[in-house]
Amino acid sequence: MNLKIALLPGDGIGPEVIDQAVKVCDAIAQKHSHKITWESALVGAAAIDAVGDPYPDETHEICASSDAVLFGAIGHPRFDNDPSAKVRPEQGLLKMRQKLGLFANVRPTFTFPSLIDKSPLKRERIEGTDLVFYRELTGGIYFGKRGREDNGETAYDTCTYTREEIKRLAKKGFEAAQKRRKKLCCVDKANVLESSRLWRETIQAMEKDYPKVEVSYEFVDAVAMRLVQWPSDYDVLITENLFGDILTDEASVISGSMGLMPSASLGSTVSLYEPIHGSYPQAAGKDIANPLATVLSAAMLFEDMDLQQEADEIRRVVYKSLAEGVVTEDLAEGGKAYKTSEVGDWLAKNI
Ligand code: IPM
Ligand code: MG
Repeated sequence: MNLKIALLPGDGIGPEVIDQAVKVCDAIAQKHSHKITWESALVGAAAIDAVGDPYPDETHEICASSDAVLFGAIGHPRFDNDPSAKVRPEQGLLKMRQKLGLFANVRPTFTFPSLIDKSPLKRERIEGTDLVFYRELTGGIYFGKRGREDNGETAYDTCTYTREEIKRLAKKGFEAAQKRRKKLCCVDKANVLESSRLWRETIQAMEKDYPKVEVSYEFVDAVAMRLVQWPSDYDVLITENLFGDILTDEASVISGSMGLMPSASLGSTVSLYEPIHGSYPQAAGKDIANPLATVLSAAMLFEDMDLQQEADEIRRVVYKSLAEGVVTEDLAEGGKAYKTSEVGDWLAKNI
């Protein structure tokens, strides 16, 4: 297969972890006789510095004409501490999601047997956890009407959803549940919010099309609690943009290592794959960041291209590196800490 992949390293540790994923993808491609053409583009603070726009048109053209996008991270502390900054790296991310139509953010949370004691939660609570969030990514309060009134003394943000937006996200969730343990949880706040009532109504009407999937409806505050009490009860969870932002951060700590959790943002024409950790500026340029979340994101990319065997092989080599202790300092626990680049080389070699 010929694949054209847009490469958006971004900021902080983004470029370093992306380099390792490229090594692994190239090794897989060589083994299975695929041809990958990589095309790099600017995003985030790096793009602001270079051209004054966190998601330049040129980057958009490259992404839109690719089969998939592999993304590192964006963000820089100099913007976080400057509330008056006119352009911010995060705006690039939102613009990219909107312009590429990346409407479904897929964030799995699973545990690795060898790392279970790194979780802040007790082993007996988290053993067997294997859940996935489908977070709506281009609607809701993030993209609703917002503004100030009363000479700036009053501010508002609005949460708007259309039935179609809910349906296309829910469809992804139902389809995933069908392939997994057939449980779907719709997370909302339908006891208070009108938009949540539309979510519930829409999903209830879809239930008949997926007779094998058992659907539950839970309020977001209760899910926040149950997620750390009994995470292994959940299979697929679907929710709107802001609830999903908050709950997926919560869920990411269950596994015990943010450095391991991948994600995908699905669009109708092109999809994007990225580690859920951020730009981790303190570690940038030191060759110490954990590249595994990015490598596992690449595995999601192959899976979505229907290259299941390639995806499985990438996952297997990642598990092998964990089992054999070929890991970066965040996971080394007194053992040898490998460099980011050494982990990448080892993975590629073992493919
Ligand atoms: C995420 C991030 C973004 C979001 C920020 C950086 C805008 O937190 O991808 O979850 O809130 O969506
Ligand atoms: Mg977030």
